[in-house]
Amino acid sequence: MLAERSNGLNMHSTLRSIINHIIKPSLFHSSVYSKATQGAMHMYSSATFISKHFMINSMDVYETIKNRRSVRKYLDSPIPFDKIARIIDAGHNAPCAGNLQAWRFIVVKTKEKIAEIAKNAYEQLWMGTAPVIIVICADNTKIKRAYGVRGERLYSIQDCALAAMNMLLAAEEEDLASCFVGAFDERMLKRTLDIPDTARPQAIITLGYPDEKPATPLKTELKDILFFDKWGNREDIKEFFPLEQYVKSGKSVAKKLGEKKNILKDLKKILKKK
Ligand SMILES: Cc1cc2nc3c(=O)[nH]c(=O)nc-3n(C[C@H](O)[C@H](O)[C@H](O)COP(=O)(O)O)c2cc1C
Repeated sequence: MLAERSNGLNMHSTLRSIINHIIKPSLFHSSVYSKATQGAMHMYSSATFISKHFMINSMDVYETIKNRRSVRKYLDSPIPFDKIARIIDAGHNAPCAGNLQAWRFIVVKTKEKIAEIAKNAYEQLWMGTAPVIIVICADNTKIKRAYGVRGERLYSIQDCALAAMNMLLAAEEEDLASCFVGAFDERMLKRTLDIPDTARPQAIITLGYPDEKPATPLKTELKDILFFDKWGNREDIKEFFPLEQYVKSGKSVAKKLGEKKNILKDLKKILKKK
């Protein structure tokens, strides 16, 4: 039974990886996309069925984190509302100071309003291609009362940032692209959206199906951002360099998949066993 469980789990995450690393990138060669995606989605549903049957939940958090990119060009396709609802719910499930849940989310779907928000964001007109925009606001009333200046100036910002991160990852999970936008004229945005003085818009998230595939931006090496025990200390961890050797990257997942040639056979076997 345990072996079956792990077979189902491996198969599920392997197929997800195929979709994310091999099929999704071909989105930009769309005739290949529709056929390949249909096939893969069929396989994926089977794997999901297997996983559910064996009560397995695959938690590919690292994969979702690695796959997310800031996308600034979207297809002109509407987003089903259930996806938006799950994304909002993911934001609402973020940790927050004193569990005050002081965030408020404004979902904007009208083209004219989105265009106005893009203007409010110092003319980042690419935002106008997004079919949906979510504006994350902090309602500062309770948090100020509970935690004073620290609550208003720090916790409320941290709460909204954590909610935003959950939402970006949820969007990735929903096969949507997103971008966190922090550069906007607060006063103008408040006017556009009737945000009261007690609240503050903290971030804008654009959402949509991607019409571009940005490369992973350059990242500094892990050793350059990490200290042990005290600021500046790297001596103790030199034996673990390079730290990247411990990190499973999207690339290595894709490479592994390339080595897994008998995936279809494996899946058939599992289905037959059922
Ligand atoms: C606080 C903050 C503010 C940002 N503001 C903007 C923005 O105004 N416009 C924009 O296009 N991207 C904005 N971004 C997105 C970053 O440019 C992006 O996350 C970064 O370049 C790394 O790329 P990645 O998200 O693909 O990893 C912002 C991100 C953060 C965290």
